[in-house]
Amino acid sequence: MDLNGVSAVVSGGASGLGEAAVRALAAEGATVVVADLNEDKGKAVADEVGGAFVKTDVSDEAQVAAAVQAAVDTGAPLRVIVNSAGVAWASRTVNRDGSPHDLGAYETVIRVNLIGTFNLMRIGAAAIAKTEPVDADGQRGVVVNTASVAGIEGQVGQVAYSASKGGIIGMTLPAARDLAAIGVRVNTICPGIIDTPIYGEGEAAEEFKAKLYAPVPFPKRMGRASEFAHLVKALIENDYMNGETIRFDGGIRFQPK
Ligand SMILES: NC(=O)c1ccc[n+]([C@@H]2O[C@H](COP(=O)([O-])OP(=O)(O)OC[C@H]3O[C@@H](n4cnc5c(N)ncnc54)[C@H](O)[C@@H]3O)[C@@H](O)[C@H]2O)c1
Repeated sequence: MDLNGVSAVVSGGASGLGEAAVRALAAEGATVVVADLNEDKGKAVADEVGGAFVKTDVSDEAQVAAAVQAAVDTGAPLRVIVNSAGVAWASRTVNRDGSPHDLGAYETVIRVNLIGTFNLMRIGAAAIAKTEPVDADGQRGVVVNTASVAGIEGQVGQVAYSASKGGIIGMTLPAARDLAAIGVRVNTICPGIIDTPIYGEGEAAEEFKAKLYAPVPFPKRMGRASEFAHLVKALIENDYMNGETIRFDGGIRFQPK
């Protein structure tokens, strides 16, 4: 799929991995709608790349529909959806103080990460379906989701987050099969430890990050958001990639403790 001249919606595009994806797609000639809750950062990123910002909670039907419509309204055919909005949450099934995991927090993480991803995928793909195919295969568009390696082997103390990301992995192949009928490919990236604002800022955050990436075999560092964006671009541009979940993690495997 050639990115030049198409439009795209990137959720979570105001920060971190989503922001890097916005920049990479725009650099290839795509008009990008940044769909994010963070208005200040989202507008700034969209302005920098000549795109548009739509304040969006990915778990809200009407707001996601508005973001997708904004991409359609650019006049460039909508071909690309990148799901990168997400929230992290650290809590155990039974906490160290004996209290059970807060159910509201569990629901919020599932709602934003899993339902939000599905929401944009379904509304975005329905809009992509209305465009003309671009090639002899009948291809119309591509969806790239962001899960996590925590969705594969889980991460201790992050049961809600792991479940939400495992859900994204679980729907990748079924969605790819569903959307084959309209010429839309679906792939999911599972990042390991990538340097973004999700880990916070300052000295304590740097110490925390150093501990996190210590078990990465090679390269011995955090991943870069630009490296994630490179993979997003490759998954869009490579027409034979479909229904796949790809680890992007320097070889790290989360341990039980
Ligand atoms: N950074 C990592 O190491 C890492 C590892 C694995 C997976 N991930 C996943 O990658 C994605 C991006 O994370 P990041 O590291 O760039 O984090 P980030 O905090 O820098 O960016 C996340 C963005 O999502 C937005 N967002 C949060 N809730 C939203 C909602 N309900 N609707 C719309 N936007 C919302 C935030 O405003 C923010 O701009 C997340 O899904 C995260 O779980 C990150």
